[in-house]
Amino acid sequence: MPVRHFLGLDDLSESELRQLMARAIALKASLRKGKPEQFMQGKTVTLIFEKSSTRTRVSFEACIAQSGGSSIFLGPAESHLSRGESIEDTARVLSRMADLVIMRTGPHERLERMAEAASIPVINGLSDFNHPCQILADLQTFLEHRGDISGRKVAWIGDGNNVCHSWMNAARLLGFDLCIATPKQHAPDKEMVLRCRHHVILTQNPNEAACDADLVLTDTWSSMGHEQEAETRKETFRGYCVDESIMETAARDALFMHCLPAYRGHEVTKGVIDGPQSVVWDEAENRLHAQKALIEFLMSVN
Ligand code: CP
Ligand code: NVA
Repeated sequence: MPVRHFLGLDDLSESELRQLMARAIALKASLRKGKPEQFMQGKTVTLIFEKSSTRTRVSFEACIAQSGGSSIFLGPAESHLSRGESIEDTARVLSRMADLVIMRTGPHERLERMAEAASIPVINGLSDFNHPCQILADLQTFLEHRGDISGRKVAWIGDGNNVCHSWMNAARLLGFDLCIATPKQHAPDKEMVLRCRHHVILTQNPNEAACDADLVLTDTWSSMGHEQEAETRKETFRGYCVDESIMETAARDALFMHCLPAYRGHEVTKGVIDGPQSVVWDEAENRLHAQKALIEFLMSVN
C-alpha cells in the first residue's frame, strides 16, 4: 500500500477533513482537562525546515511532546540538504530512523520528491505553493466560532499566495464561495483557479470580495522569498489593506483571520487585527490541535 502523505488538503476526502476538525476539537478539550492523549509514545518526528518559522515549528514540537513523542528539528543550515545531499537520499535515511517527516521548503516539488522517496508519511509545513496545515487550523477556528463553513462566503484580500491556494482547495472540498481580490499580477495560480472554478471568484476589487462575507482573510504582501520585492509590493498592494471600512462591507458578524506573521498598517490595520472580529490568536493556537489530529490520522492510516 502506498504511504499516505499530507502535501495538500486534497490528500484528504471531504469526510476525512470533517473528521479531522472534529477530532482536533476533542483533542483540544482533552488538553484543557490536563489529559493530553498519548498516541505518540515511542515515536520520533523529524522537522526539516528550509525556511523560517515560529508557529509551525512550535506547534508541531509542542503537539508531539504533549502526545508522548519526540521531535528532532533541522533548520536551514543544519542538515546536509544545504550542502547538496539529495532529497531522495535524505528521505531514505529519515525513513529508517523516524516515524514521520514535516518539511517546510520553497519549491513544492522538493516536498513531492521527499514524499516520493520516503516510506514514512511526509507533512507539508509550507511550500511556495501551499500551506495546508494552516487551513486545518483556520477551518477548526471557523467551526468553533460560527459552525459549518459550507455554503458561506469567504473573502481573500491581498496576495494570491500559498495560503490562498490552500483556502481555494478548502472551498472546493467543503463547498463554500471564496471571493479573491488581488492586483491582477498577483492573482492565484491559473491551474488552481481552473480546478476550483466552481467555488472561486476572482476580482481586483477588495470591496466586492468583502461584500457580505462571513469571513475575511489576508496574509503578508511579501511572503518568504519575496523580501527583495517588498517596497514595490507595498505600492502594488496599496488599496488591499483590510481596514475597518472593508470589515463594514462584510457581514455584521464576519470574522477576521490572518495566518501570521502580520504587518500592521500594511495588509491589515491594527484596529482590525486587534479588534473584536479578529480570531487570529485562536487560529494560531489551533495549529497545535489541528496538527495533533492530523498526525494521529496519518499514523492510523499508514
Ligand atoms: N502561520 C505560520 O505558518 O507561521 P510560521 O511561519 O511562524 O510557522
Ligand atoms: N505567505 C506567507 C505565509 C507565512 C506563514 C509566507 O509564505 O511567507
